[in-house]
Amino acid sequence: MAGPTQDFWQQRFVSGQIPWDRGEAHPQLLSWLEQGEITAGLDLVVPGCGRGHELLLLAKAGIRARGLDYSPAAVAMARTQLASAGGCDFAQVEEADVLAWQPRSAIDAVYEQTCLCALHPDQWLRYADQLHAWIKPGGRLFALLMQARRDSAGQGIVEGPPYHCDIQAVRALFPAERWTWPAPPYPAHVHAQGWTELAVVLTRR
Ligand SMILES: C[S@@+](CC[C@H](N)C(=O)[O-])C[C@H]1O[C@@H](n2cnc3c(N)ncnc32)[C@H](O)[C@@H]1O
Repeated sequence: MAGPTQDFWQQRFVSGQIPWDRGEAHPQLLSWLEQGEITAGLDLVVPGCGRGHELLLLAKAGIRARGLDYSPAAVAMARTQLASAGGCDFAQVEEADVLAWQPRSAIDAVYEQTCLCALHPDQWLRYADQLHAWIKPGGRLFALLMQARRDSAGQGIVEGPPYHCDIQAVRALFPAERWTWPAPPYPAHVHAQGWTELAVVLTRR
């Protein structure tokens, strides 16, 4: 299978080579919470949760947040962070492959931050099908779409991670028959690595 393996991600966490990690929750998540877009009582999943900064913020806001990650080191770090914060009973972390995991029942929302761009595009259709299957009709996908286009794309070369989440490719993955799209332009955040992330909220039909 093309793209990074479970061992690739595990080694990044074990060796501390995690330049994508802000050391705190994403500012857009804070905005969505402050704007009341994400509210207490929601059942929300964070695929590829890494060290779990967003889980902690969500749990403190009273959201039933479940993080998924298939790196045991990331899972351990996220669990440690939640435990050391104390009183975060709302949040859980599961060691799971996002391409295989299924919830017991449909969920309200997914917070997608740097999981799509961590997967090789060969796996994107599978991942998009997963998110569609997990979220209940009327539920929402809060997405930060990594814009990481490289010059080599002009020659057809696929480079990553992070893989460039071209907006046209994302429209094809989450088509209008399945998802309601807000009108652009979308808020953009500059990532510490120099990439930009587009913040988009889709509603599952
Ligand atoms: C670039 S990191 C982002 C972590 C976190 N979302 C953040 O922004 O700090 C990608 C994460 O996705 C996880 N991941 C990649 N492929 C996965 C898969 N198939 N199943 C579960 N987790 C996966 C990696 O272990 C890693 O923690």
